[in-house]
Amino acid sequence: MKKLFAVLILAAMPALSFGAEHGGPELKSVDIDVSDKAALQDGARTFANYCMGCHSAKFQRYERVADDIGVPHDLMLSKLVFTGAKIGDHMNIGMQPADAKAWFGAAPPDLTLVARVRGTDWLYGYLTSFYEDPSRPWGVNNKVFPNVGMPNVMAALQGRQVVGCKQVQIVEDGKKQFDPLTGTALTHEACDQLTIVPKSGALTEEQFDEKVKNLVTFLAYSANPVKLQHQRIGTYVLLYLAFFFVFAYLLKREYWKDVH
Ligand code: HEC
Repeated sequence: MKKLFAVLILAAMPALSFGAEHGGPELKSVDIDVSDKAALQDGARTFANYCMGCHSAKFQRYERVADDIGVPHDLMLSKLVFTGAKIGDHMNIGMQPADAKAWFGAAPPDLTLVARVRGTDWLYGYLTSFYEDPSRPWGVNNKVFPNVGMPNVMAALQGRQVVGCKQVQIVEDGKKQFDPLTGTALTHEACDQLTIVPKSGALTEEQFDEKVKNLVTFLAYSANPVKLQHQRIGTYVLLYLAFFFVFAYLLKREYWKDVH
């Protein structure tokens, strides 16, 4: 019994230490659906336009991506490939790691697998949490990745995000609090909040969040492209089982007919 107990505790260790490690800002949980083709296409476009100046996705080929997300090859080449690469090439970039290190203080890592390493909530949080900070080399800092070397490449879309005070709803035990008499939300002033200067970006806050969500969907797909296939195969397996069940049942009836 003691032994069993020890084994159980050991088995729970990774989960426990993971919980303890959790510090820093709270991450919003985002619902990512890698079978959403429209989201994948929008995410791929954003990735090619805003990220591939510095980041590669070198374990992916353009051709595979085009086929998986449902984009014809010629469209892929004209709209999403800016490096003169061919359709069968890996998604490499021209920037040299040594130059990048000199310019940014850190080389931009390859992003093919980043969604596996960091998780989609982290990526979403990171990409929406740049804020103005004149003390940093690029004039921006990040709530999720403090003192990051990456500039805020989507600032023109998002607008100017600053840290300021705003009224936020009080949450207790995970529940939003309301005034029992009037039903209005109970708020308090918090002064470490990210706020976007109104109309300073090309997109509204909702549109920008959607854009980032699509980008994260693309990164999630990229880190696990076979997941799409698994879902397809899973459907066939279930259909097969349902089909097989009918015959198995008929056969069973046939066999037992004379026994009763
Ligand atoms: C101008 C160059 C540049 C562009 C463009 C750029 N990044 Fe970065 N990015 C960097 C650098 C440099 C780092 C490393 C920062 C550090 O370690 O301090 C980085 C780091 C990251 C990281 C953290 C990786 C990790 O696990 O440590 C992610 C995620 C990321 N970038 C995503 C993106 C996405 C998505 C885009 C497109 C919207 C993008 N980046 C565009 C330069 C860039």
